[in-house]
Amino acid sequence: MSIKQRKKDHVALTTSGEVNYRTSTGFEDYDFIHNALPEVNVEEVSTEAKFLGRTFSFPLFISSMTGGYTDAGAVNAIIAEFCQEYNLPFGVGSQRIMLEDPDAISSFSVVRQRAPDAFIAANIGGAQLVGGLSQENQDLLINSIEADAVIVHLNPLQELMQPEGDRRFKGIEDGISQLCSNSPVPVIVKETGAGISAEVAERLLKSGVKVIDVAGAGGTSWAKVENERSTNNNPDPDFDDWGVPTLHCVREVQELKGEYDFELIASGGIRSSQDIAKSLCLGSDFAAAAQPVIKAVVDDGFDGLEKLYQQWRKQMITILTLLGCERLEELEPKHLKLGRYKG
Ligand SMILES: Cc1cc2nc3c(=O)[nH]c(=O)nc-3n(C[C@H](O)[C@H](O)[C@H](O)COP(=O)(O)O)c2cc1C
Repeated sequence: MSIKQRKKDHVALTTSGEVNYRTSTGFEDYDFIHNALPEVNVEEVSTEAKFLGRTFSFPLFISSMTGGYTDAGAVNAIIAEFCQEYNLPFGVGSQRIMLEDPDAISSFSVVRQRAPDAFIAANIGGAQLVGGLSQENQDLLINSIEADAVIVHLNPLQELMQPEGDRRFKGIEDGISQLCSNSPVPVIVKETGAGISAEVAERLLKSGVKVIDVAGAGGTSWAKVENERSTNNNPDPDFDDWGVPTLHCVREVQELKGEYDFELIASGGIRSSQDIAKSLCLGSDFAAAAQPVIKAVVDDGFDGLEKLYQQWRKQMITILTLLGCERLEELEPKHLKLGRYKG
């Protein structure tokens, strides 16, 4: 099975299949505390959010997804044009394929051509850092897209469910440490849906990581995606719901903020502005989403993405107004009822 075919399977399964966790993110366990006396004018409400020193129009990072074949280049181009126009940050999919096949570079480099001013993050798997990333490969990852940050994805569950996946995870932590020392741009570490616990987050922060994107359980289940691939002759659905729910990750990782200087992204199952607002109330700085974005692009291209963005932005303005806030920075735990009204 080639990497290209695997990438195609991933897009097909996440856009048309039922590959969500059965267990939830946990966000639905919280209700907002409605403010019947908001003292806010809607036209003065702003959805602007800061991340790594830049100001964006909305607190949504378009999660790393694809690259490496012709259609992936087209998807990346649409996301790039969108992020250029609407000022959102985004990450390209794993660039491992272009380190092995120079023909794949154009499906990544297209993003900088289409988004000269956008915040764009490079992406590489933790497994590719075992033994250290060569200077040549580091330069290629960053320079091919003039990256503003490098994302390292950790995905041991996905690899173990993938018949052709990596099985060697010793040395990833050292590889991350080395990358943090050598990289000219900040290093972000994310999971792909099974979550980052406080214990792992602390090890990453000690290594010099600047941003933790928890990518917790409750959204796309990468165990399920791998188990559903037609070429997987030995699926193991017992692991489809393995992982730490996103809300739990956010709550425990944000507690490290007193001790370490870092930014926290909530992702994994972010499916509405209410999820984003709840995660900000609980201490995350930004949110990120993958599946809703790839679905919008595959179904309806740039227009689909624009529709999703406009809807989420409008909803965020409504949420802020109904909480009596004009700015996202005002969101705090006090705006949430811990435990629902019902029950
Ligand atoms: C089609 C697709 C491809 C993905 N490929 C990558 C990848 O190459 N690198 C990566 O870090 N994450 C990848 N992811 C994982 C997402 O970035 C994200 O962490 C995960 O899907 C959970 O978010 P969600 O519930 O919003 O989908 C991919 C996701 C999708 C939907």
